[in-house]
Amino acid sequence: MGSLDGRVALITGAGRGIGRQEALFFASEGAKVVVNDPGVTPEGTGGDPGVAEAVAREIRAAGGDAVANTDDVTDWDGARRMVETAVEAFGDLHVVVNNAAIQRRRALVNMTEDEFDAVLAVHLKGTFAVTRWAARHWRDQGNSSDRAVVNTVSASGLLMPGITQGNYAAAKAGVAALTTACAVELARYGVRVNAVSPSMARTRLTEGVPGMSDTPDGTFDPLHPALTAHVAACLAAPGCPLNGQVLAVRGTSVTLLNGWSAGKSVTKDGAPWTVTELSEAMTAFPRRDPLAEAAAMVGGSLGEGNRDTLLAMVDTMLTDPR
Ligand SMILES: NC(=O)c1ccc[n+]([C@@H]2O[C@H](COP(=O)([O-])OP(=O)(O)OC[C@H]3O[C@@H](n4cnc5c(N)ncnc54)[C@H](O)[C@@H]3O)[C@@H](O)[C@H]2O)c1
Repeated sequence: MGSLDGRVALITGAGRGIGRQEALFFASEGAKVVVNDPGVTPEGTGGDPGVAEAVAREIRAAGGDAVANTDDVTDWDGARRMVETAVEAFGDLHVVVNNAAIQRRRALVNMTEDEFDAVLAVHLKGTFAVTRWAARHWRDQGNSSDRAVVNTVSASGLLMPGITQGNYAAAKAGVAALTTACAVELARYGVRVNAVSPSMARTRLTEGVPGMSDTPDGTFDPLHPALTAHVAACLAAPGCPLNGQVLAVRGTSVTLLNGWSAGKSVTKDGAPWTVTELSEAMTAFPRRDPLAEAAAMVGGSLGEGNRDTLLAMVDTMLTDPR
């Protein structure tokens, strides 16, 4: 008996990378899967309808249930069609995994409006659009319970500054905020909303990232994208108690993220601060260095002197004429 027996799951961006692994693993755990993917390039251009169909076919060949859908998560009507596809093909919808992704890396001073908008559209609007249509379905159903949404965020935007990835980091931080807002709003319809934050999973998006080694032969692979799928399945399973949480996944390590929290504060009684007074009072605040914090985060993969290594990488990225 599988942990997702009888569940119907819609997984966006399920044609490749982590989403593909989620589709295969969910199906192996007994879920019926809508494999959504328009098969675009890493930058979100072009399209190949065969990408989603290939995964659906692989699931069916292994004895599972799956249908392909090639809609774009940024398309409002497309997001509605994905939900309809699940209900028409399998009679219900229990789980949405918002996983679709594109990337357009660029230093802020060179980033175009389109590069910013396109990334926000896939990650943030796409997560909203698909969740919104699924939530409408669950609300209209009236008696739904134990439904689950699993969003996908990133260390970029939550734990790291996302250098040359301002668009991506902002989108992912937005998805984390949307996760907690939806968790509160949708609880009344029996829906839990959580997020996974993958890290160092070997996909086309992480090609060339320092620390990504080649696929090991035959041994356990801590960079395998399937490791995120197992965590997503746990959040999607009936009876999972978590709601409004973000789980960072690196290899087999699963860490509950705390999100923003209040730090030290200063207060003045009964009158507004003058600029001089507030500047003086704020000397009590610890001086934080986002670059040092980022270097500490990725320290293991950068080795000794990681702050200097990261500084050199940042310099190279920012002086790249792109
Ligand atoms: N790989 C990692 O280590 C890592 C780290 C942090 C976060 N993530 C997140 O994990 C998720 C999966 O990333 P991945 O590395 O597997 O990427 P990937 O590029 O391998 O797969 C993403 C898939 O999304 C699809 N897609 C793109 N635009 C779409 C759209 N508009 N509608 C529907 N599908 C669309 C693509 O066609 C592609 O098949 C993303 O949300 C990504 O931001 C990955």
